[in-house]
Amino acid sequence: MLNTGIVRGFSKLTEEEKRNFIARICNDPTQAEDRLERFLMEDENERSQFLELSENTISSFHTPYGIAPNFLVNAKVYHVPLVIEESSVVAAASHSARFWAERGGFTVKSVTTVKLGHVYFRWFGAPSYIRERWHQLKLFLLERLKKLTINMVRRGGGILSLELLDETLTINNLYKLELKVETINSMGANFVNTCLEDMAEALEMFFTADDDHEEKKCQVAMAILSNYTPECTVTVEASCETDHLKPIAERLPVEVFADKLCLAYQIAHHDPSRAVTHNKGIMNGVDAVLMATGNDYRAAEAAAHAFAARDGQYRALSYCSLSNGVLSIGLTIPMALGTVGGITNLHPLARLSLEILGNPNAKELMGIVASVGLASNFAAVRSLVTTGIQKGHMRLHLSNILNTLNVNNGQREEAELYFSNRKVSFNAVKHFLHEISH
Ligand code: MEV
Repeated sequence: MLNTGIVRGFSKLTEEEKRNFIARICNDPTQAEDRLERFLMEDENERSQFLELSENTISSFHTPYGIAPNFLVNAKVYHVPLVIEESSVVAAASHSARFWAERGGFTVKSVTTVKLGHVYFRWFGAPSYIRERWHQLKLFLLERLKKLTINMVRRGGGILSLELLDETLTINNLYKLELKVETINSMGANFVNTCLEDMAEALEMFFTADDDHEEKKCQVAMAILSNYTPECTVTVEASCETDHLKPIAERLPVEVFADKLCLAYQIAHHDPSRAVTHNKGIMNGVDAVLMATGNDYRAAEAAAHAFAARDGQYRALSYCSLSNGVLSIGLTIPMALGTVGGITNLHPLARLSLEILGNPNAKELMGIVASVGLASNFAAVRSLVTTGIQKGHMRLHLSNILNTLNVNNGQREEAELYFSNRKVSFNAVKHFLHEISH
């Protein structure tokens, strides 16, 4: 290491050398190295397969892998794997799943699967010229794409449309080519980007080859898929008679409870401050299934929040209505995911998660994920309008603190009793344990 703190050639060190180097930064290098090693898999093959998913890997970071059983989606039961570190999400999703399973479950109302990508470029020639040549250019680009799309077409997907969009009112000289594709069971990022990069190259070539326009009038800015997928969405709904809400209404009369639920969803529709937290409760469930199945939860998050603001104001993604004594909840969320390719095939647990779900295709998985999102959201809102979320959270929070403090069974029982009606904090628990041991 240079005395500036900058390290050169870190990537060229062996895995062990990297671990050793980093451990030396820590207060107790021996303990740090030991810990980093302890979290690696024992099986050599699995370990290297796993570590090679990323770069400069020195250990693996474990996150709890839980199951939310009994999700009834389109009359089929799923026991859904969830990878999440936040306590109470799995328990809440499980309760909600069971509750709705006994009331007809979740129904997938619609699924769309169009993926988008763009080639952004500046055109410095006459605006009319590019319009005149567009038809010919489009045929040229599509013809070239055929060689890249053979396999996707064989699987039932491929190019859906290609359009030229004029963006010059926003940025001088800017145009974009918009490619819409169907990628069936793959998330399609590699496929879309490969097509777009081929188009970008072909676009410049097309105009360079043009006799009348030798100077570079066309300049490509970039070619990239869009993680905004407003035409790749799923809508799920669940409903029940208000009378059937009784078991979860705490002490509230069901009509009052149903009314408060609807009000909470209305608030989240109108108030962005609440909408963000409301949607976070949806993403608790969504991301956890995406993680467990090796899908790109960052893409899902980015798309979901952009979609939530599609009318110019950030709003709740889910909704709730009350009509003729029936309460209905629903969620429409963009979701570009895959059940083949990428990490879904490479990560041993992601593969197993899909197996646990009965090897769904992408559309089926979209329905499952959205149902988990809606269930998580409903569980959170239910708590908010009844007991508040702290009651449930605090039980798990106490358990986490007790685990951190390595208590024995007797101390645990005493602490659980003592804190059943008191505020839980790390210091309060520590103080209590100190008091009972003296
Ligand atoms: C916490 O992770 C999620 C909630 O804040 C969601 C919500 O407020 O609806 C409980």
